[in-house]
Amino acid sequence: MERTDRGAYRGDSGGDGDSVEEQRRMGDIRQHGRHEPPEGHGGHPGGEGGIAARVEAARAGLDPLHVPVMLDRIVELLAPALGEPGAVLVDGTLGLGGHSEALLRACPDMRLVGVDRDTTALERSAERLAPYSDRVHLVHAVYSDIPRALDEAGVTGADAILLDLGVSSPQLDETDRGFAYAHDAPLDMRMDRTQSLTAAEVVNTYPVAELTRVLRTYGEERFASRVARAIERQRAQAPIESTRALAELVREAIPAATRRTGGHPAKRTFQGLRIEVNAELSILESALPAAIARLSVGGRVAVLSYHSLEDRMTKRALAGLATDTTPADLPVPLPDRQPELRLLTRGAELPTDEENERNPRAQSARLRAAERVRPPRQ
Ligand SMILES: C[S@@+](CC[C@H](N)C(=O)[O-])C[C@H]1O[C@@H](n2cnc3c(N)ncnc32)[C@H](O)[C@@H]1O
Repeated sequence: MERTDRGAYRGDSGGDGDSVEEQRRMGDIRQHGRHEPPEGHGGHPGGEGGIAARVEAARAGLDPLHVPVMLDRIVELLAPALGEPGAVLVDGTLGLGGHSEALLRACPDMRLVGVDRDTTALERSAERLAPYSDRVHLVHAVYSDIPRALDEAGVTGADAILLDLGVSSPQLDETDRGFAYAHDAPLDMRMDRTQSLTAAEVVNTYPVAELTRVLRTYGEERFASRVARAIERQRAQAPIESTRALAELVREAIPAATRRTGGHPAKRTFQGLRIEVNAELSILESALPAAIARLSVGGRVAVLSYHSLEDRMTKRALAGLATDTTPADLPVPLPDRQPELRLLTRGAELPTDEENERNPRAQSARLRAAERVRPPRQ
């Protein structure tokens, strides 16, 4: 099952540089394994050999069928910041704890602050991480609460921050959660089941213009307006309450010729609704700069995106802080306008073909990472 709609990176990008082909041409994406190691990569602790050993340690004991997305690269990028005793990793999207477990194994002196908005994910990862419980602090929160979670854990600065965005495989696979068009279930799609907004409420109460925006912007659905109008007609008869009813309605609304290509016709509508229900993009936009502000000097941040808009926000947030903002007409660089971050990835990195083959969920992943080189600008 796919974690997100692969088509999210394939749709009409409007010429803004989001399609894979356009980004490859512009040098903004490259496949992991085909890039030069970034400057300083592997320099600490233990150099290149030290990192290779950590990657190996991270993989030891992992079920080969459940390897987290771009695991080796995440370990290569983050482990150098997690070698000192008491170093803190903040995993803002803990999920099943796969990346975190690997880093706990690779970096025996680090501590983990693990955050997830889904209580089921937290319960499962608490079990998985039980062997490391003396180094693990789990928090039920949205990752925009990372600063508060750090305060509560008595931590001033994070040494590494990881965001692996989107929905997890268990969320897709638990049929009653309503994320999957392939299973009949109530239209729910909440990652945090304590929040009130559900997909049923979006579908049955949003004005048509709003629904169209959600499906077009977040789902990248070419026929957003047709689907939204079909929803409006249907809900005037009776509320749409199940995933099957919605999937069927979308299938009918989409021109027959396009139904035969591009996977299940409801895939994009479901993705759009999920992003809206969980406010995924608006949270990322404000939370990423706030989390980065808590990164210690020498600390590293890595973000795995699965949607072109997530990747664009990540790119802007990292590139903005990696730029000298001295006004162009000044003769010398101003010390307080110097870059806070150094980019560790050149453009976005993609999984290897081998990983994509092994794990279809990885196919839409893009990874960007950076290191803090100066305290935050005032
Ligand atoms: C792709 S999974 C992470 C998988 C994890 N890296 C692993 O190795 O198991 C994403 C997780 O992030 C959580 N999540 C998504 N958005 C979130 C947010 N804004 N705040 C906190 N958790 C969030 C989801 O509930 C889900 O469990």
